[in-house]
Amino acid sequence: MAEPDSLKGKLRLPVIGAPLFIISNPDLVLAQCKAGIVGSFPSLNARPVSQLDEWLDQITSELESYNRANPDNPAAPFAVNQIVHRSNNRLQEDLALCEKYKVPMVITSLGAQAEVNQAVQGWGGITLHDVINQRFAHKAIEKGATGLICVSAGAGGHAGALSPFSFVAETRAWFDGPILCSGAISTGGGVLAAQAMGADYAYIGSAFIATAEARADEAYKQGIVDGSAEDIVYTNLFTGVHGNYLKKSIIDAGLDPDVLPESDPSAMNFGSGGGSKAKAWKDIWGSGQGIGSVKSVRPAAEYIDQLKAEYDAAKARLLG
Ligand SMILES: Cc1cc2nc3c(=O)[nH]c(=O)nc-3n(C[C@H](O)[C@H](O)[C@H](O)COP(=O)(O)O)c2cc1C
Repeated sequence: MAEPDSLKGKLRLPVIGAPLFIISNPDLVLAQCKAGIVGSFPSLNARPVSQLDEWLDQITSELESYNRANPDNPAAPFAVNQIVHRSNNRLQEDLALCEKYKVPMVITSLGAQAEVNQAVQGWGGITLHDVINQRFAHKAIEKGATGLICVSAGAGGHAGALSPFSFVAETRAWFDGPILCSGAISTGGGVLAAQAMGADYAYIGSAFIATAEARADEAYKQGIVDGSAEDIVYTNLFTGVHGNYLKKSIIDAGLDPDVLPESDPSAMNFGSGGGSKAKAWKDIWGSGQGIGSVKSVRPAAEYIDQLKAEYDAAKARLLG
């Protein structure tokens, strides 16, 4: 297992809570870390930049005091997600704040930059880059990323189309660093399956939308509870990049999910409604295919307890 030193002995489960645009906030991150998995959020969720300073202050100080009070059961470290894309004009400012708080893990998406990896590793952090194919995976490692997130078919939000079985196996064949498997994982059995395939960690996003701490409308949370794999639509219409969305939100926006037009990928943007008044992420709800096992909205810690029980049971059943 390729385990970075910063994670050794610090996780109750080999799970990283994925960053969720708009939805992840300090309450969710703290709940995830205290329950023993890595919690994360996109830095752009904190607006304006001064709020990022406040969030990082709150998260680091609350985790420090939690760890002082629970030396035998410390919290997992947290991660910040940076969108490394030319449209993100906050990248340098946000990275400087991550350096100020020595953020232990930075998840980069939509672009691999050697300077970003060097900066994070320079303060002792690790970088995980999310990729949807081998070309991007090789590029990320050439640019110095510590580890790879194989965002496979069925993942919520921007997602690839490769099966996790082939994607993880082909990546493990040439890369011996940390690999995270992502896409429709929502049960403890799924976490163990990711490890059996050769990944080190499972990366779980959509299931955390239906938690008490998540910053999402109640209707969105209920949509996750009510939905299952066949309620998910894969389209590039809303942002120019292919992603998975809840069918109900597309219908509610007045669009026919069965006849969505293709978008022009050169016109990548992060908030269009594909010709309707609806806004991607706010009105058009990102979701992966793994939500069929999400049965209620509840505190993140309760969901993580369930993941742990399922993981242990699957391990006992298969490995004796
Ligand atoms: C609503 C939503 C918002 C997302 N926002 C981001 C984001 O801001 N940055 C990012 O790197 N990934 C983002 N993702 C992708 C997740 O980090 C992760 O790859 C995905 O949730 C994993 O698949 P799963 O949802 O099936 O568990 C988002 C996913 C969803 C569902």
